Amino acid sequence: MRAEKDGYDHFMQKEIAEQPRAYRDTMLGRIDKETKGVVLPELNMTLEDIHQIQQIQMVACGTAYHAALVGKAVIERMTRIPVEIDVASEYRYRQPVIRENTLVIAVSQSGETADTLAAMREAKLCGARVMAVTNVVGSSVAREADDVLYTMAGPEIAVASTKAYTSQLIALYLFAIYVSQSLNTMDAMTRMELLSTMEKLPEQVEGMLEDTRTIQRIAGELADRNHLFFIGRGLDYMVAMEASLKLKEISYIHSEAYAAGELKHGSLALIEDGTPVIAIATQEALLEKTISNIKEVKARGAYVIGVALEGNMEMAKTADEVIYIPRTDALLTSTLSVVPLQLLAYYAALARGNDVDKPRNLAKSVTVE
Ligand code: G6P
Repeated sequence: MRAEKDGYDHFMQKEIAEQPRAYRDTMLGRIDKETKGVVLPELNMTLEDIHQIQQIQMVACGTAYHAALVGKAVIERMTRIPVEIDVASEYRYRQPVIRENTLVIAVSQSGETADTLAAMREAKLCGARVMAVTNVVGSSVAREADDVLYTMAGPEIAVASTKAYTSQLIALYLFAIYVSQSLNTMDAMTRMELLSTMEKLPEQVEGMLEDTRTIQRIAGELADRNHLFFIGRGLDYMVAMEASLKLKEISYIHSEAYAAGELKHGSLALIEDGTPVIAIATQEALLEKTISNIKEVKARGAYVIGVALEGNMEMAKTADEVIYIPRTDALLTSTLSVVPLQLLAYYAALARGNDVDKPRNLAKSVTVE
């Protein structure tokens, strides 16, 4: 079957636009209307197996690693099970401590990434139970795992991953909620509210995709820059890492993602007049802290683009430009804030005349070590 662009200029643009559908399909049949809980009948693990999990280790590469970072944060917050995370190419050589009752989660869009597959094999050899979160039915990762949780993003053609990443987030949220309901670590009311908030995400993404003019304009301003920073705290930091990777992959603009509070420990020296800093601040509990980090970089001349929740006036007063995202639960903001940043990378790459779908030196799936 030949993939078609269906009227879009690029696969990446089409895949960004397909995200509302990918969110819906990844949730489809997994939220039980009666019990208002998550059902994952595809998993082989029993309730007893879940109760026995002592620790979780996550392995992945590239964008999937960034999705796993969000997964680690939400699994820990919702279940209180400690989660370690590694890029797959490091995991296999660091002699990881795999105790009894360790669950290893391998996240891979293609299910064919050599490093992820090798890390997973290493974990199995050491006695871990392995669960795969993958987009490709029958892929190597899916075949070798004990349990498989599929993302329903549909085929992803563009080298820079977009809808696969956000579908991985949705799948990992569902898994975290599933484990928390099995362990009773989240009260039923909170779970129900979280699930109904999740069900609103596809519509919110549709809303964000309706008018992208502000993002196009900002991308145009950034297109002739050679380096910039992304900063954020908590989940925003993890989105910052993914946004930075997206920008590097296709626009070839050098960028770094920093935990907002860490910048002052070194890289602040690189901020000079006009250095662009994209500050993601969707975590209201951390807002004041991030705003003071924005003031630190502004005082050194940075040109700040804020990403904030609708109605955040503080950001409007502090940043030079603001990209607003719809309000949702604080745990879910990553599924929304990444979307305008995917578009920012896309439009910046276009403005630079790059091959958006096939960036230089990169492959969609890396099947060699
Ligand atoms: C390659 C791709 C990335 C992807 C990574 C992991 O480097 O260019 O977009 O995130 O592999 O791929 P996987 O299929 O394992 O998610």
